[in-house]
Amino acid sequence: MADRTVIKVGAALKKSVLYGSLLNVGNLSDPTLAAFVASQNRIVVAESEMKMRSLQPTQGTFSFTDADAIAAFAQTNGIALRFHTLVWHGGLPTWAASAIAADWQGVMDSHIAGVSGRYAVQSMDVANEVIADDGSGWRTDSPWYQAAGSIDYVRRAFAKARLAAPAGTKLMLCDYGCEAGATALAKSTKLMELASTLKSDGTIDGLSLQCHINLLAAGASFNQTNFAAFLAQAKSMGLEVNLTEIDCANQNPNYDEATFKQVSADVLSLIVQTWASAGVGQECLTWCIKQDLSWLHDTFPTRTQWPGCFDASYRRNPLFYRLRGALN
Ligand code: XIL
Repeated sequence: MADRTVIKVGAALKKSVLYGSLLNVGNLSDPTLAAFVASQNRIVVAESEMKMRSLQPTQGTFSFTDADAIAAFAQTNGIALRFHTLVWHGGLPTWAASAIAADWQGVMDSHIAGVSGRYAVQSMDVANEVIADDGSGWRTDSPWYQAAGSIDYVRRAFAKARLAAPAGTKLMLCDYGCEAGATALAKSTKLMELASTLKSDGTIDGLSLQCHINLLAAGASFNQTNFAAFLAQAKSMGLEVNLTEIDCANQNPNYDEATFKQVSADVLSLIVQTWASAGVGQECLTWCIKQDLSWLHDTFPTRTQWPGCFDASYRRNPLFYRLRGALN
């Protein structure tokens, strides 16, 4: 572990790139892990501590303890912070579904008012995962969509966030499945349609592409031409695009650890390189500090998962070298 701070991913990068990862409050209680994050990252995002379930566990009562701990860690270590996420069908407290159904505008307004301005953030995911999985339309099973009856709830969220957020906060629309996978073209096209409306409203600064990639037996279906065209279109519209939750799930029963790490590093680094070449955004974050700590272990429990730039002992995975190369 001695050399890990000598060549970190973030240190040798172009100054324009803020490289980082997620962080959760549990990670902070491990001093070695926390020091590692401080040494590697130029930006962090709370894994769940800034979701509605954490911030407003009881209607009208805000709870900032865990989120404050993440923000304080960032500030103490001179690391930028991003906010994830204001309006989402996931991460809701138990009271929210019926309250949203009864008065979605009231719930939205009081959440945005209660949260905005507390943290000085580089960027904020105002809405998360509002496009249908196959890209054919909007996500209609969201309580927000069902209560509002249209995608206009997202427009309202951005308008309210724009009024409430400190000047300079970049307001972002976040989604997954827009970089690779069978439905990437449809989904990214739909995301762009909404971003274009929000741009006309004057409320959006850019897109947060989660970049959760699935490596199936058939591969990851990454189409570099389509992705580059998408990034170029966003840039021409004056939208920033960031990669904010990079990881790769093993969905292939035939991979061993070494093979998976090589193949997933190939595809993720190609995506990151395509993004970096487009010069369209600053933030590049993985959803994994080290491979034993990842939501993928719970999400895909039937297959072994080997995500992230570092193994459980902080040794560099192939992804470390490939991302560092892609970002330089
Ligand atoms: C995940 C967290 O990693 C898990 O710990 C939690 O149980 C569920 O949420 N897309 C997102 C993130 O926008 O907020 C999700 O985070 C992963 C997928």
